[in-house]
Amino acid sequence: MLNFALVAGSGRPNSQSGKVARYLRQRLIDLGLSSEEQTSIVDLGQEPLAQWPDPQSAAWIAHAAKLQAADAVVIVAPEWHGMAAPAVKNFFVYASKAELGHKPGLLVGVSSGIGGAYPISELRASGYKNCRLGYLPEHLIVRHVEKVLNTPEAESEDDRRIRARADYALDILGKYAEALKPVRAAIDMENPAFATGM
Ligand SMILES: Cc1cc2nc3c(=O)[nH]c(=O)nc-3n(C[C@H](O)[C@H](O)[C@H](O)COP(=O)(O)O)c2cc1C
Repeated sequence: MLNFALVAGSGRPNSQSGKVARYLRQRLIDLGLSSEEQTSIVDLGQEPLAQWPDPQSAAWIAHAAKLQAADAVVIVAPEWHGMAAPAVKNFFVYASKAELGHKPGLLVGVSSGIGGAYPISELRASGYKNCRLGYLPEHLIVRHVEKVLNTPEAESEDDRRIRARADYALDILGKYAEALKPVRAAIDMENPAFATGM
């Protein structure tokens, strides 16, 4: 069975990103891709990281353990002022290849309106250099987030469509997770000459 970590990248303790991360976690379990024990959530609003990187902080030690155990990660990134929110950017100041190196990552943009694409393009352009997280070409954008993923059954056509697409993307993430296990095992990640990316 595969292990997944889902990062809720909002700095707000009761964020919509947290809601989306919990929904996706439950789908991973319901789709038979993982289990309660093998899925974890890193909620950066509920367990925040200081802005000056402190790898010995209790919050980072707890987050790092969940990430290290994961075969794949989901990064839920809310759009704030046309950017990825500061909490998720700060997460990538902490994260290294020890936690994320060559693991498949599914990006999920979140917007209360019709935005949500900016955090996807921003994170595809930055943040992975040193941690070597490998983003899937597939991603999700949850628009009008307050109106979807709230109830056991879809409440609207938009809700139904994002749920179907989420299942599709999670299934693909599971396939990458399985396929990249031997790739990761075959890569030497300890070479001191290439400790950071170019
Ligand atoms: C400071 C701030 C700026 C925001 N700017 C945008 C924006 O530029 N585009 C957008 O689509 N939504 C924007 N939003 C709304 C978010 O999409 C909304 O809060 C959504 O719930 C995701 O954030 P959350 O995970 O923190 O709840 C903004 C929200 C905040 C708090």
